[in-house]
Amino acid sequence: MPSDGSQGELASKRFLIVTGKGGVGKTTVCAAEALALAAKGKRVLIAMCNAKERISQMLGCDLVGSEVTPAGPNIWAVNMDPEVALEEYGMMMLKSRALYKLLFDNKYVRTFFRAVPGMHEWAMLGKAWWHTTETRDDGSPRFDIVILDAPATGHGLDMLRVPKVIIDVVPPGLLRRDAERAWKLFQDPATTAVVLVTLPEEMPATETIELAAGLRELQLPIGKIVVNQVLPPLFSRDERVKLEALGPVEVDAEPAAAVSAARRRAIRERVQAESLSRLAEGLPVQPAYLPQLFDNAATPKAIYELSRRLT
Ligand SMILES: Nc1ncnc2c1ncn2[C@@H]1O[C@H](COP(=O)(O)OP(=O)(O)OP(=O)(O)O)[C@@H](O)[C@H]1O
Ligand SMILES: [Mg+2]
Repeated sequence: MPSDGSQGELASKRFLIVTGKGGVGKTTVCAAEALALAAKGKRVLIAMCNAKERISQMLGCDLVGSEVTPAGPNIWAVNMDPEVALEEYGMMMLKSRALYKLLFDNKYVRTFFRAVPGMHEWAMLGKAWWHTTETRDDGSPRFDIVILDAPATGHGLDMLRVPKVIIDVVPPGLLRRDAERAWKLFQDPATTAVVLVTLPEEMPATETIELAAGLRELQLPIGKIVVNQVLPPLFSRDERVKLEALGPVEVDAEPAAAVSAARRRAIRERVQAESLSRLAEGLPVQPAYLPQLFDNAATPKAIYELSRRLT
């Protein structure tokens, strides 16, 4: 098994970036990891990127908006709004709301910020990172670990490339200095881990292997790979071959319907077995597996069950 040496305990990190294609289970994994880390005594913040809010269902807490909200013992959550995050960021840079208003109500300044590619993504990424630097009155960190529930990746690494884009296109100044600082921290495997979520299916497996290659190119540390929705195999390899060899079965009689269902399952299991072995070979880190649940997975009970499987 090739290794980039970056796989470490997630509990020792400060910043986790959970990413993967749309609908693979990123938010579910964020919630389950948060629960697992909180159970180890870590204070965890889940930072979502302007998401359709589902975390409250998963964790059984109040709705999560753009303010940090308690979401369970040792768990907090925030649903970052890009405009609000941008305003906060602008104010942090300028240290005053009055100054912010003066500048940002100015159409030239607005145009400048709009013209910087990925400014909204930067505001959310930067805000999530900034939460790792917050401290309590006694000087201890407000959160031990911030989990960024990153937006679904399109073809590339979208949001994660943004600091690099800023470094490349923005003239020297505060914005570029912050992007450089954040980029350095994101690349440090001691503090940051990217958690890749995928499914045991053909296309997601291929795309995840490509995504991992992209992350390595950007020198972002892959800390964990979670293959979600894995089916417990019902058939052996031989049984799968025999069932598939039957070809499509007419389903008008009951026994035939059962054989047809078994054959469909056998095909799914073959695709799963092939995808899992490709993932195990093609990725720098041995994946962790989460089972497919047959009840609604967006409940506190299901998330608890999944969190136990992660540890
Ligand atoms: N292991 C599982 N077993 C059964 N259902 C699951 C499992 N994991 C996730 N789901 C369900 O799949 C759906 C998608 O999960 P989730 O919202 O976590 O995906 P996502 O990657 O965050 O999606 P998006 O890209 O839209 O943000 C949800 O309905 C969730 O409850
Ligand atoms: Mg999600």
